[in-house]
Amino acid sequence: MKKKTNLKVMIVMGSQSDYKTMKLSSNILKKLGIKFETKIISAHRTPKRMYEFASSAIKNNIGVIIAGAGGSAHLPGMISALTTVPVLGVPIESKKLRGLDSLLSIAQMPKGVPVGTLAIGEDGAINAALLAASIISNSDPVIKKKLNNWRLSQTKSVKKKPD
Ligand code: RP5
Repeated sequence: MKKKTNLKVMIVMGSQSDYKTMKLSSNILKKLGIKFETKIISAHRTPKRMYEFASSAIKNNIGVIIAGAGGSAHLPGMISALTTVPVLGVPIESKKLRGLDSLLSIAQMPKGVPVGTLAIGEDGAINAALLAASIISNSDPVIKKKLNNWRLSQTKSVKKKPD
């Protein structure tokens, strides 16, 4: 089979209210020059939109899906049930349980339908983008170099002394 190149990342989220967190994923992808799109897709409120998106993900050249959801966070798992494109789940920090509900909903997938689960909130959104970049970089040496440079500059930014 021909190897697919020039894959894009899709960032989806359950609600407009998730965007302040998921924007951090898009900021990282922008910095690394990775093609991406963002969409609001709710497993509960727009199930048909979710089905259509997930079932056409391979055909649409999507290499990684980052899915942010909060509370009863079914979006990443349901997308993973509908496609073999890797799905990275970002548990959004919910008001009532501070994201523990989101984390457990996303992490506790049954065997056979995987979701790579990141940390709750902003750290998770940033790391989801970095992990998506790592996956994409397996077939893209330009992205690999950019990611490596990003890591190097992070290392350089850590001071040796606190004062
Ligand atoms: C989830 O419900 C969304 O991912 C969001 O985190 C949470 C609350 O959504 P809104 O009521 O703010 O639209 O589906």
